[in-house]
Amino acid sequence: MKKVFNKFYKENRSYLALNTKLIPKYLHNGQGKVLLDIGCGRGEAAKEFAGWGYSIYDYDNSIEARKQALEHRKITYIWGDFERRSFPPANVILCKLSLAFAKNKKKLLKRLIWSLLPGGHLIVISPIIPETPPEKKHIAINEKLLYEATKLKLISRKKDPLSNINTYYFIFKKQILLHNLGKVADKCFPKKCR
Ligand SMILES: C[S@@+](CC[C@H](N)C(=O)[O-])C[C@H]1O[C@@H](n2cnc3c(N)ncnc32)[C@H](O)[C@@H]1O
Repeated sequence: MKKVFNKFYKENRSYLALNTKLIPKYLHNGQGKVLLDIGCGRGEAAKEFAGWGYSIYDYDNSIEARKQALEHRKITYIWGDFERRSFPPANVILCKLSLAFAKNKKKLLKRLIWSLLPGGHLIVISPIIPETPPEKKHIAINEKLLYEATKLKLISRKKDPLSNINTYYFIFKKQILLHNLGKVADKCFPKKCR
């Protein structure tokens, strides 16, 4: 696939732009927040989020995307295989048209969720296998795997009306588990000490 992506960028083509209408309004304020963009390409979507104030870490391994990467003071590019990177804690994690290309999707998702801060959001933008023609299945994801691997609360699942390949926006939230906080409090301050 690397060659395919390099050829695509060399021809100066772009993937379908981020449909900001499908990103909840409360995520449009990124002041003081960190966003990881997994498989960022040239950084078009990252630039949109940077405009909303996010500090972005952009991950990709295409040499051609690197040559054409968009500059922005809030974007830091990390070039190389995203399946071999460690990730910093983040408020938002974006996988736009990229998760399907991970060799081990389950492992990558689990590592991403680990980096997601409580209260943070995971945005997966992708076509899904049942709605994708056989010759394009490699660019789509298995929705069930997405739910099983993330185990996060799905707060929105919308089809992008501007996409001709049935692209969905899945938005998950990593909840702050108050009952766990209770358990932590019990351990640190046993009830008999309170
Ligand atoms: C379909 S493109 C989408 C690019 C960008 N997110 C967009 O929507 O414009 C998929 C991107 O994922 C990158 N990619 C795929 N597998 C990768 C990997 N293992 N490590 C890093 N980048 C990868 C490709 O280089 C490519 O830029």
